[in-house]
Amino acid sequence: MSKQEETLKKIISHCKEYGFVFQSSEIYDGLSAVYDYGHNGTELRKNIREYWWKAMVQMHDNIVGIDSAIFMHPKVWKASGHVDGFNDPMIDNKDSKKRYRADQLLEDRIAKYEKDGKTDKAAGLQKAMDDALESNDLAALKALIEENEIACPISGTRNWTEVRQFNLMYSTQMGSLAEDADEVYLRPETAQGIFVNFLNVQKTARMKIPFGIAQTGKAFRNEIIARQFIMRMREFEQMEMQFFVRPGTEMEWFTYWKAYRMAWHKNLGIPDAKYRFHEHTKLAHYANAAVDIEYDFPFGFKEVEGIHSRTDFDLKQHQEFSGKKLQYFDPEINQNYVPYVVETSIGLDRMFLLLMFHCLEEETLESENQTDTRTVLRLPAILAPVKLAVFPLVKKDGLPEKAKEIIDMFRFDYTCMYEEKDAIGKRYRRQDAIGTPFCVTVDYDTMENNTVTLRYRDSMEQKRVAIDELSTILADEINWKKVLNFQL
Ligand code: GAP
Repeated sequence: MSKQEETLKKIISHCKEYGFVFQSSEIYDGLSAVYDYGHNGTELRKNIREYWWKAMVQMHDNIVGIDSAIFMHPKVWKASGHVDGFNDPMIDNKDSKKRYRADQLLEDRIAKYEKDGKTDKAAGLQKAMDDALESNDLAALKALIEENEIACPISGTRNWTEVRQFNLMYSTQMGSLAEDADEVYLRPETAQGIFVNFLNVQKTARMKIPFGIAQTGKAFRNEIIARQFIMRMREFEQMEMQFFVRPGTEMEWFTYWKAYRMAWHKNLGIPDAKYRFHEHTKLAHYANAAVDIEYDFPFGFKEVEGIHSRTDFDLKQHQEFSGKKLQYFDPEINQNYVPYVVETSIGLDRMFLLLMFHCLEEETLESENQTDTRTVLRLPAILAPVKLAVFPLVKKDGLPEKAKEIIDMFRFDYTCMYEEKDAIGKRYRRQDAIGTPFCVTVDYDTMENNTVTLRYRDSMEQKRVAIDELSTILADEINWKKVLNFQL
Protein backbone atom coordinates (compact mmCIF):
# COMPACT_ATOMS: atom_id res chain seq x y z
CA MET A 1 0.00 0.00 0.00
CA SER A 2 1.41 3.43 -0.94
CA LYS A 3 1.95 6.09 1.76
CA GLN A 4 -0.94 8.19 0.47
CA GLU A 5 -3.30 5.20 0.50
CA GLU A 6 -2.21 4.49 4.05
CA THR A 7 -2.88 8.09 5.14
CA LEU A 8 -6.31 8.02 3.54
CA LYS A 9 -7.08 4.68 5.20
CA LYS A 10 -6.13 6.13 8.58
CA ILE A 11 -8.41 9.12 8.04
CA ILE A 12 -11.33 6.90 7.00
CA SER A 13 -10.98 4.67 10.04
CA HIS A 14 -10.52 7.63 12.41
CA CYS A 15 -13.65 9.27 10.96
CA LYS A 16 -15.60 6.09 11.59
CA GLU A 17 -14.23 5.27 15.03
CA TYR A 18 -14.89 8.76 16.42
CA GLY A 19 -18.30 9.40 14.89
CA PHE A 20 -17.31 11.77 12.08
CA VAL A 21 -18.24 9.92 8.88
CA PHE A 22 -19.95 6.59 8.16
CA GLN A 23 -20.52 4.83 4.86
CA SER A 24 -24.15 5.32 3.87
CA SER A 25 -26.38 2.25 4.41
CA GLU A 26 -23.41 0.43 5.89
CA ILE A 27 -25.47 -2.51 7.23
CA TYR A 28 -26.44 -3.22 3.59
CA ASP A 29 -22.76 -3.12 2.55
CA GLY A 30 -22.88 0.58 1.77
CA LEU A 31 -23.83 2.78 -1.17
CA SER A 32 -20.88 3.83 -3.27
CA ALA A 33 -19.70 7.46 -2.89
CA VAL A 34 -22.51 8.33 -0.48
CA TYR A 35 -21.71 9.05 3.17
CA ASP A 36 -23.47 9.88 6.44
CA TYR A 37 -22.05 12.17 9.10
CA GLY A 38 -22.01 11.10 12.76
CA HIS A 39 -22.41 13.31 15.82
CA ASN A 40 -18.90 14.80 15.68
CA GLY A 41 -18.94 15.07 11.90
CA THR A 42 -22.23 16.92 11.97
CA GLU A 43 -20.88 19.43 14.50
CA LEU A 44 -17.71 19.97 12.47
CA ARG A 45 -19.67 20.45 9.25
CA LYS A 46 -22.04 22.87 10.96
CA ASN A 47 -19.06 24.90 12.20
CA ILE A 48 -17.36 25.01 8.78
CA ARG A 49 -20.68 26.09 7.24
CA GLU A 50 -21.09 28.75 9.91
CA TYR A 51 -17.57 30.05 9.31
CA TRP A 52 -18.38 30.36 5.60
CA TRP A 53 -21.77 31.97 6.24
CA LYS A 54 -20.39 34.50 8.71
CA ALA A 55 -17.49 35.41 6.41
CA MET A 56 -19.73 35.84 3.37
CA VAL A 57 -23.05 37.15 4.74
CA GLN A 58 -22.41 38.57 8.21
CA MET A 59 -19.15 40.30 7.22
CA HIS A 60 -20.59 41.86 4.04
CA ASP A 61 -23.44 44.40 4.22
CA ASN A 62 -24.17 43.74 0.55
CA ILE A 63 -24.61 39.95 0.70
CA VAL A 64 -27.80 38.16 1.75
CA GLY A 65 -28.64 34.50 1.94
CA ILE A 66 -31.33 32.25 0.46
CA ASP A 67 -32.36 28.61 0.71
CA SER A 68 -33.81 27.45 -2.60
CA ALA A 69 -35.37 24.06 -3.29
CA ILE A 70 -33.42 21.09 -4.62
CA PHE A 71 -36.05 20.48 -7.32
CA MET A 72 -36.33 23.18 -9.95
CA HIS A 73 -38.28 23.57 -13.17
CA PRO A 74 -36.66 21.26 -15.78
CA LYS A 75 -36.16 24.23 -18.11
CA VAL A 76 -33.68 25.69 -15.61
CA TRP A 77 -31.21 22.94 -16.51
CA LYS A 78 -31.82 23.35 -20.22
CA ALA A 79 -31.09 27.09 -19.88
CA SER A 80 -28.02 26.57 -17.70
CA GLY A 81 -26.53 24.16 -20.22
CA HIS A 82 -26.54 21.19 -17.87
CA VAL A 83 -28.93 19.04 -19.95
CA ASP A 84 -26.77 19.29 -23.05
CA GLY A 85 -23.33 19.94 -21.67
CA PHE A 86 -22.87 18.58 -18.14
CA ASN A 87 -21.04 15.49 -19.33
CA ASP A 88 -17.88 13.58 -18.61
CA PRO A 89 -16.04 11.68 -21.37
CA MET A 90 -16.11 8.03 -20.26
CA ILE A 91 -14.30 4.95 -21.46
CA ASP A 92 -14.82 1.31 -20.40
CA ASN A 93 -12.27 -1.45 -20.17
CA LYS A 94 -13.83 -4.50 -21.88
CA ASP A 95 -11.99 -7.00 -19.68
CA SER A 96 -12.48 -5.56 -16.19
CA LYS A 97 -15.84 -3.94 -17.16
CA LYS A 98 -14.65 -0.88 -15.21
CA ARG A 99 -15.57 2.60 -16.39
CA TYR A 100 -13.13 5.53 -16.27
CA ARG A 101 -13.13 9.21 -17.03
CA ALA A 102 -10.97 9.49 -20.14
CA ASP A 103 -9.51 12.84 -19.08
CA GLN A 104 -8.57 11.46 -15.66
CA LEU A 105 -6.70 8.53 -17.17
CA LEU A 106 -4.75 11.05 -19.24
CA GLU A 107 -4.18 13.37 -16.27
CA ASP A 108 -2.75 10.49 -14.24
CA ARG A 109 -0.40 9.73 -17.11
CA ILE A 110 0.68 13.40 -17.32
CA ALA A 111 1.41 13.32 -13.56
CA LYS A 112 3.49 10.17 -14.07
CA TYR A 113 5.51 11.77 -16.89
CA GLU A 114 6.14 14.77 -14.63
CA LYS A 115 7.21 12.55 -11.75
CA ASP A 116 9.63 10.72 -14.06
CA GLY A 117 11.13 14.03 -15.23
CA LYS A 118 9.62 13.71 -18.75
CA THR A 119 8.40 17.29 -18.71
CA ASP A 120 8.24 17.73 -22.51
CA LYS A 121 6.11 14.62 -22.86
CA ALA A 122 3.85 15.81 -20.04
CA ALA A 123 3.38 19.25 -21.63
CA GLY A 124 2.71 17.73 -25.06
CA LEU A 125 0.07 15.37 -23.72
CA GLN A 126 -1.53 18.14 -21.65
CA LYS A 127 -1.89 20.31 -24.75
CA ALA A 128 -3.24 17.49 -26.91
CA MET A 129 -5.77 16.57 -24.20
CA ASP A 130 -6.89 20.19 -23.72
CA ASP A 131 -7.38 20.57 -27.49
CA ALA A 132 -9.39 17.33 -27.70
CA LEU A 133 -11.59 18.33 -24.75
CA GLU A 134 -12.18 21.79 -26.11
CA SER A 135 -13.21 20.55 -29.52
CA ASN A 136 -15.19 17.69 -27.92
CA ASP A 137 -13.15 15.28 -30.06
CA LEU A 138 -13.85 11.94 -28.34
CA ALA A 139 -11.95 9.91 -30.95
CA ALA A 140 -8.86 12.03 -30.30
CA LEU A 141 -9.14 11.32 -26.55
CA LYS A 142 -9.25 7.59 -27.25
CA ALA A 143 -6.26 7.88 -29.58
CA LEU A 144 -4.27 9.62 -26.82
CA ILE A 145 -5.09 6.83 -24.39
CA GLU A 146 -3.87 4.26 -26.93
CA GLU A 147 -0.77 6.19 -28.01
CA ASN A 148 0.31 6.60 -24.39
CA GLU A 149 -0.25 2.89 -23.76
CA ILE A 150 -2.57 3.47 -20.81
CA ALA A 151 -3.79 0.21 -19.32
CA CYS A 152 -6.73 -0.47 -16.99
CA PRO A 153 -5.41 -0.54 -13.39
CA ILE A 154 -7.65 -3.55 -12.64
CA SER A 155 -7.26 -5.87 -15.66
CA GLY A 156 -3.93 -4.46 -16.83
CA THR A 157 -5.17 -4.64 -20.45
CA ARG A 158 -5.60 -1.95 -23.11
CA ASN A 159 -8.85 -3.38 -24.44
CA TRP A 160 -10.88 -0.13 -24.44
CA THR A 161 -14.33 0.83 -25.77
CA GLU A 162 -14.92 4.11 -27.63
CA VAL A 163 -15.07 7.28 -25.49
CA ARG A 164 -18.68 8.39 -24.85
CA GLN A 165 -20.25 11.40 -23.14
CA PHE A 166 -22.14 10.63 -19.94
CA ASN A 167 -24.51 13.16 -18.33
CA LEU A 168 -23.93 13.62 -14.61
CA MET A 169 -27.42 14.74 -13.57
CA TYR A 170 -29.81 12.47 -11.69
CA SER A 171 -33.39 12.61 -12.85
CA THR A 172 -36.63 11.49 -11.30
CA GLN A 173 -40.37 11.86 -11.95
CA MET A 174 -42.63 14.53 -10.51
CA GLY A 175 -46.29 13.54 -10.50
CA SER A 176 -48.05 10.35 -9.46
CA LEU A 177 -48.73 8.76 -12.85
CA ALA A 178 -45.81 7.68 -14.93
CA GLU A 179 -47.57 8.68 -18.21
CA ASP A 180 -48.10 12.32 -17.25
CA ALA A 181 -45.09 12.66 -15.00
CA ASP A 182 -42.55 15.37 -15.69
CA GLU A 183 -38.89 14.54 -15.56
CA VAL A 184 -37.16 16.67 -12.94
CA TYR A 185 -33.52 16.73 -11.89
CA LEU A 186 -31.77 16.70 -8.56
CA ARG A 187 -29.78 19.93 -8.74
CA PRO A 188 -26.11 19.38 -9.65
CA GLU A 189 -25.16 22.80 -8.19
CA THR A 190 -26.87 25.28 -5.86
CA ALA A 191 -25.99 28.29 -8.05
CA GLN A 192 -29.01 28.06 -10.37
CA GLY A 193 -31.38 28.55 -7.41
CA ILE A 194 -29.63 31.89 -6.89
CA PHE A 195 -29.81 32.97 -10.54
CA VAL A 196 -33.53 32.31 -10.89
CA ASN A 197 -34.21 34.25 -7.66
CA PHE A 198 -32.04 37.19 -8.64
CA LEU A 199 -34.88 39.71 -9.00
CA ASN A 200 -36.92 38.35 -6.06
CA VAL A 201 -33.97 38.92 -3.75
CA GLN A 202 -32.80 42.18 -5.29
CA LYS A 203 -36.26 43.69 -4.88
CA THR A 204 -37.26 42.28 -1.47
CA ALA A 205 -33.87 42.84 0.19
CA ARG A 206 -33.64 46.24 -1.63
CA MET A 207 -30.13 45.45 -2.82
CA LYS A 208 -28.11 47.78 -5.02
CA ILE A 209 -25.46 46.50 -7.37
CA PRO A 210 -22.83 45.34 -6.48
CA PHE A 211 -24.45 42.76 -4.23
CA GLY A 212 -24.29 39.04 -3.56
CA ILE A 213 -26.60 36.13 -2.80
CA ALA A 214 -25.23 33.23 -0.76
CA GLN A 215 -26.55 29.74 -0.34
CA THR A 216 -25.45 26.43 1.15
CA GLY A 217 -27.11 23.12 0.30
CA LYS A 218 -27.00 19.66 -1.19
CA ALA A 219 -26.03 18.97 -4.79
CA PHE A 220 -26.09 15.66 -6.64
CA ARG A 221 -23.86 14.34 -9.41
CA ASN A 222 -23.68 10.87 -10.85
CA GLU A 223 -19.90 10.80 -10.57
CA ILE A 224 -18.59 7.74 -12.35
CA ILE A 225 -15.23 7.81 -10.74
CA ALA A 226 -15.95 8.32 -7.09
CA ARG A 227 -12.66 8.17 -5.26
CA GLN A 228 -10.77 9.34 -2.24
CA PHE A 229 -13.55 9.05 0.32
CA ILE A 230 -15.56 12.30 0.59
CA MET A 231 -13.40 14.08 -2.02
CA ARG A 232 -15.76 13.11 -4.84
CA MET A 233 -19.25 12.11 -3.76
CA ARG A 234 -22.56 11.55 -5.49
CA GLU A 235 -24.45 13.59 -2.89
CA PHE A 236 -22.50 16.50 -1.40
CA GLU A 237 -22.93 20.02 -0.08
CA GLN A 238 -21.88 23.22 -1.75
CA MET A 239 -21.44 26.74 -0.34
CA GLU A 240 -21.89 29.16 -3.21
CA MET A 241 -22.16 32.90 -3.65
CA GLN A 242 -23.07 34.81 -6.79
CA PHE A 243 -21.92 38.42 -6.79
CA PHE A 244 -23.86 40.63 -9.23
CA VAL A 245 -21.87 43.53 -10.66
CA ARG A 246 -22.03 46.24 -13.29
CA PRO A 247 -20.60 44.95 -16.62
CA GLY A 248 -17.01 46.10 -16.99
CA THR A 249 -16.28 45.96 -13.24
CA GLU A 250 -16.15 42.16 -13.02
CA MET A 251 -12.36 41.81 -13.07
CA GLU A 252 -12.01 44.14 -10.09
CA TRP A 253 -14.47 41.95 -8.18
CA PHE A 254 -12.88 38.75 -9.39
CA THR A 255 -9.58 40.00 -7.89
CA TYR A 256 -11.32 40.90 -4.63
CA TRP A 257 -13.03 37.52 -4.26
CA LYS A 258 -9.90 35.62 -5.17
CA ALA A 259 -8.01 37.35 -2.34
CA TYR A 260 -10.90 37.14 0.12
CA ARG A 261 -11.53 33.47 -0.39
CA MET A 262 -7.84 32.60 -0.07
CA ALA A 263 -7.72 34.64 3.18
CA TRP A 264 -10.74 32.65 4.43
CA HIS A 265 -8.73 29.44 4.05
CA LYS A 266 -5.50 30.80 5.52
CA ASN A 267 -7.23 32.44 8.52
CA LEU A 268 -7.73 28.92 9.82
CA GLY A 269 -3.99 28.87 10.46
CA ILE A 270 -3.14 26.69 7.46
CA PRO A 271 0.30 27.63 6.09
CA ASP A 272 0.68 29.42 2.74
CA ALA A 273 2.67 26.54 1.24
CA LYS A 274 -0.34 24.20 1.50
CA TYR A 275 -2.42 26.33 -0.87
CA ARG A 276 -2.03 27.58 -4.41
CA PHE A 277 -4.12 29.19 -7.13
CA HIS A 278 -4.62 27.32 -10.37
CA GLU A 279 -5.56 29.81 -13.08
CA HIS A 280 -7.64 28.32 -15.90
CA THR A 281 -6.02 28.96 -19.23
CA LYS A 282 -8.82 27.29 -21.20
CA LEU A 283 -12.00 29.06 -20.18
CA ALA A 284 -15.56 27.80 -20.52
CA HIS A 285 -17.36 29.72 -23.28
CA TYR A 286 -19.33 31.82 -20.75
CA ALA A 287 -16.41 32.74 -18.46
CA ASN A 288 -13.87 35.54 -18.83
CA ALA A 289 -11.74 34.48 -15.85
CA ALA A 290 -11.58 31.42 -13.60
CA VAL A 291 -9.29 30.21 -10.87
CA ASP A 292 -9.26 27.24 -8.49
CA ILE A 293 -8.02 27.31 -4.93
CA GLU A 294 -6.04 24.09 -4.54
CA TYR A 295 -4.83 22.37 -1.39
CA ASP A 296 -1.82 20.09 -1.18
CA PHE A 297 -3.50 16.76 -0.34
CA PRO A 298 -1.30 13.64 0.04
CA PHE A 299 -2.43 12.76 -3.50
CA GLY A 300 -1.26 16.14 -4.87
CA PHE A 301 -2.69 19.65 -5.21
CA LYS A 302 -6.46 19.34 -5.79
CA GLU A 303 -9.29 21.83 -6.18
CA VAL A 304 -11.26 22.77 -3.08
CA GLU A 305 -12.93 25.89 -4.40
CA GLY A 306 -13.59 27.66 -7.69
CA ILE A 307 -13.89 31.39 -8.36
CA HIS A 308 -15.42 32.16 -11.72
CA SER A 309 -16.25 35.33 -13.59
CA ARG A 310 -19.33 34.07 -15.46
CA THR A 311 -20.24 37.25 -17.37
CA ASP A 312 -24.00 37.69 -17.95
CA PHE A 313 -24.32 34.16 -19.37
CA ASP A 314 -26.61 32.59 -16.75
CA LEU A 315 -29.03 35.50 -16.32
CA LYS A 316 -29.27 35.97 -20.10
CA GLN A 317 -29.97 32.27 -20.62
CA HIS A 318 -32.74 32.32 -17.98
CA GLN A 319 -34.12 35.49 -19.55
CA GLU A 320 -34.31 33.78 -22.90
CA PHE A 321 -35.74 30.46 -21.68
CA SER A 322 -38.27 31.96 -19.23
CA GLY A 323 -39.25 34.95 -21.35
CA LYS A 324 -38.96 37.12 -18.19
CA LYS A 325 -36.66 40.12 -17.98
CA LEU A 326 -33.81 39.67 -15.50
CA GLN A 327 -32.42 43.17 -15.56
CA TYR A 328 -31.35 45.80 -13.10
CA PHE A 329 -31.90 49.55 -13.34
CA ASP A 330 -28.69 51.22 -12.20
CA PRO A 331 -29.61 54.71 -10.93
CA GLU A 332 -25.97 55.81 -10.86
CA ILE A 333 -25.61 55.53 -14.62
CA ASN A 334 -29.31 55.70 -15.46
CA GLN A 335 -29.21 52.42 -17.39
CA ASN A 336 -30.89 49.01 -17.46
CA TYR A 337 -28.60 46.02 -17.88
CA VAL A 338 -28.22 42.30 -17.21
CA PRO A 339 -25.60 42.18 -14.42
CA TYR A 340 -22.33 40.26 -14.70
CA VAL A 341 -21.63 37.63 -12.05
CA VAL A 342 -18.56 36.59 -10.09
CA GLU A 343 -19.13 33.26 -8.36
CA THR A 344 -17.34 31.62 -5.44
CA SER A 345 -18.09 27.92 -5.00
CA ILE A 346 -16.63 25.60 -2.37
CA GLY A 347 -17.50 22.01 -1.45
CA LEU A 348 -18.27 21.64 2.26
CA ASP A 349 -17.34 17.96 2.33
CA ARG A 350 -14.06 18.60 0.52
CA MET A 351 -13.23 21.30 3.06
CA PHE A 352 -14.04 18.80 5.81
CA LEU A 353 -11.62 16.31 4.27
CA LEU A 354 -8.95 19.00 3.92
CA LEU A 355 -9.22 19.76 7.64
CA MET A 356 -9.00 16.08 8.51
CA PHE A 357 -5.83 15.70 6.45
CA HIS A 358 -4.30 18.88 7.81
CA CYS A 359 -5.22 18.52 11.48
CA LEU A 360 -4.99 14.80 12.25
CA GLU A 361 -1.62 13.88 13.70
CA GLU A 362 0.00 10.83 15.28
CA GLU A 363 2.27 12.57 17.72
CA THR A 364 5.25 10.88 19.38
CA LEU A 365 5.67 11.89 22.99
CA GLU A 366 9.13 11.45 24.45
CA SER A 367 9.50 11.38 28.20
CA GLU A 368 12.50 10.38 30.34
CA ASN A 369 11.82 6.67 30.49
CA GLN A 370 9.43 5.97 27.65
CA THR A 371 8.11 6.88 24.23
CA ASP A 372 4.38 7.17 23.79
CA THR A 373 2.10 8.27 20.96
CA ARG A 374 -1.16 10.15 20.90
CA THR A 375 -3.64 10.85 18.13
CA VAL A 376 -4.57 14.49 18.12
CA LEU A 377 -6.91 16.39 15.83
CA ARG A 378 -5.55 19.94 15.89
CA LEU A 379 -8.68 21.65 14.58
CA PRO A 380 -8.96 25.42 14.92
CA ALA A 381 -10.75 25.81 18.29
CA ILE A 382 -13.73 27.59 16.73
CA LEU A 383 -14.42 24.63 14.43
CA ALA A 384 -13.97 21.84 17.00
CA PRO A 385 -17.09 19.66 17.49
CA VAL A 386 -16.71 19.86 21.28
CA LYS A 387 -15.16 22.98 22.75
CA LEU A 388 -14.98 22.02 26.40
CA ALA A 389 -14.89 18.66 28.17
CA VAL A 390 -15.31 18.52 31.94
CA PHE A 391 -14.23 15.54 34.05
CA PRO A 392 -14.66 14.77 37.73
CA LEU A 393 -11.48 13.09 39.01
CA VAL A 394 -13.63 10.47 40.77
CA LYS A 395 -17.31 9.54 40.62
CA LYS A 396 -18.12 10.48 44.24
CA ASP A 397 -17.96 13.11 46.99
CA GLY A 398 -19.84 15.72 44.98
CA LEU A 399 -17.20 15.95 42.20
CA PRO A 400 -19.61 14.86 39.42
CA GLU A 401 -22.17 17.46 40.52
CA LYS A 402 -19.49 20.18 40.56
CA ALA A 403 -18.35 19.16 37.05
CA LYS A 404 -21.96 19.31 35.79
CA GLU A 405 -22.32 22.78 37.34
CA ILE A 406 -19.38 23.94 35.21
CA ILE A 407 -20.97 22.40 32.11
CA ASP A 408 -24.18 24.28 32.91
CA MET A 409 -22.22 27.54 33.09
CA PHE A 410 -20.84 27.07 29.58
CA ARG A 411 -23.45 25.12 27.60
CA PHE A 412 -25.13 28.38 26.50
CA ASP A 413 -21.99 29.38 24.60
CA TYR A 414 -20.19 26.18 23.69
CA THR A 415 -20.77 22.52 22.90
CA CYS A 416 -19.65 20.82 26.10
CA MET A 417 -19.14 17.22 27.10
CA TYR A 418 -19.17 15.50 30.48
CA GLU A 419 -17.06 12.35 30.94
CA GLU A 420 -16.49 10.28 34.06
CA LYS A 421 -15.43 6.90 32.66
CA ASP A 422 -11.78 5.69 32.70
CA ALA A 423 -8.61 7.29 34.03
CA ILE A 424 -8.12 11.01 33.36
CA GLY A 425 -5.27 10.30 30.90
CA LYS A 426 -7.53 8.12 28.78
CA ARG A 427 -10.27 10.75 28.85
CA TYR A 428 -7.76 13.38 27.65
CA ARG A 429 -6.73 11.11 24.78
CA ARG A 430 -10.34 10.57 23.67
CA GLN A 431 -10.87 14.33 23.57
CA ASP A 432 -7.57 14.86 21.70
CA ALA A 433 -8.80 12.46 19.03
CA ILE A 434 -11.95 14.48 18.37
CA GLY A 435 -10.16 17.84 18.58
CA THR A 436 -11.54 19.24 21.86
CA PRO A 437 -9.32 22.26 22.59
CA PHE A 438 -9.97 22.44 26.34
CA CYS A 439 -10.48 19.91 29.13
CA VAL A 440 -11.23 20.81 32.72
CA THR A 441 -10.74 18.42 35.64
CA VAL A 442 -12.56 18.82 38.92
CA ASP A 443 -10.75 17.37 41.95
CA TYR A 444 -10.88 17.57 45.76
CA ASP A 445 -9.12 20.99 45.75
CA THR A 446 -11.93 22.30 43.57
CA MET A 447 -14.36 21.59 46.39
CA GLU A 448 -12.17 23.61 48.73
CA ASN A 449 -11.10 26.59 46.66
CA ASN A 450 -13.09 26.62 43.41
CA THR A 451 -10.06 26.03 41.19
CA VAL A 452 -9.77 23.42 38.43
CA THR A 453 -7.08 21.98 36.17
CA LEU A 454 -7.35 23.40 32.68
CA ARG A 455 -5.62 21.28 30.03
CA TYR A 456 -4.73 22.57 26.55
CA ARG A 457 -5.06 20.07 23.70
CA ASP A 458 -2.12 21.21 21.56
CA SER A 459 0.60 21.76 24.17
CA MET A 460 -0.91 19.37 26.73
CA GLU A 461 -0.04 22.08 29.25
CA GLN A 462 -2.04 21.92 32.47
CA LYS A 463 -2.77 25.01 34.53
CA ARG A 464 -4.53 25.53 37.82
CA VAL A 465 -7.13 28.26 37.30
CA ALA A 466 -10.09 29.65 39.20
CA ILE A 467 -13.49 28.62 37.81
CA ASP A 468 -14.26 32.34 37.56
CA GLU A 469 -11.35 32.82 35.15
CA LEU A 470 -12.49 30.10 32.75
CA SER A 471 -14.96 32.17 30.82
CA THR A 472 -12.35 34.82 29.89
CA ILE A 473 -9.76 32.20 28.95
CA LEU A 474 -12.20 30.29 26.73
CA ALA A 475 -13.68 33.42 25.13
CA ASP A 476 -10.20 34.56 24.22
CA GLU A 477 -9.42 31.34 22.35
CA ILE A 478 -12.83 30.30 20.99
CA ASN A 479 -13.67 33.38 19.14
CA TRP A 480 -15.12 34.11 15.68
CA LYS A 481 -13.23 37.41 15.53
CA LYS A 482 -9.96 35.50 15.41
CA VAL A 483 -10.84 33.91 12.07
CA LEU A 484 -13.13 36.60 10.66
CA ASN A 485 -10.65 39.44 10.97
CA PHE A 486 -9.67 39.63 7.30
CA GLN A 487 -6.50 41.49 6.26
CA LEU A 488 -6.50 41.63 2.46
N1 GAP B 1 -21.43 26.46 -9.51
C1 GAP B 1 -20.12 26.12 -9.84
C2 GAP B 1 -19.77 24.72 -9.52
O1 GAP B 1 -20.60 23.91 -9.13
P1 GAP B 1 -17.77 23.05 -9.49
O2 GAP B 1 -16.29 23.30 -9.72
O3 GAP B 1 -18.42 22.02 -10.31
O4 GAP B 1 -18.45 24.46 -9.69
C3 GAP B 1 -17.59 23.61 -6.94
O5 GAP B 1 -17.99 22.71 -7.95
C4 GAP B 1 -16.98 22.87 -5.76
O6 GAP B 1 -17.88 21.84 -5.32
C5 GAP B 1 -15.68 22.15 -6.07
O7 GAP B 1 -14.57 23.02 -5.96
C6 GAP B 1 -15.65 21.06 -5.01
O8 GAP B 1 -15.14 21.57 -3.79
C7 GAP B 1 -17.13 20.75 -4.82
N2 GAP B 1 -17.51 19.52 -5.56
C8 GAP B 1 -17.81 19.40 -6.87
N3 GAP B 1 -18.13 18.13 -7.18
C9 GAP B 1 -18.03 17.43 -6.03
C10 GAP B 1 -18.24 16.06 -5.68
N4 GAP B 1 -18.64 15.17 -6.58
N5 GAP B 1 -18.04 15.68 -4.39
C11 GAP B 1 -17.66 16.57 -3.46
N6 GAP B 1 -17.45 17.88 -3.72
C12 GAP B 1 -17.63 18.31 -4.98
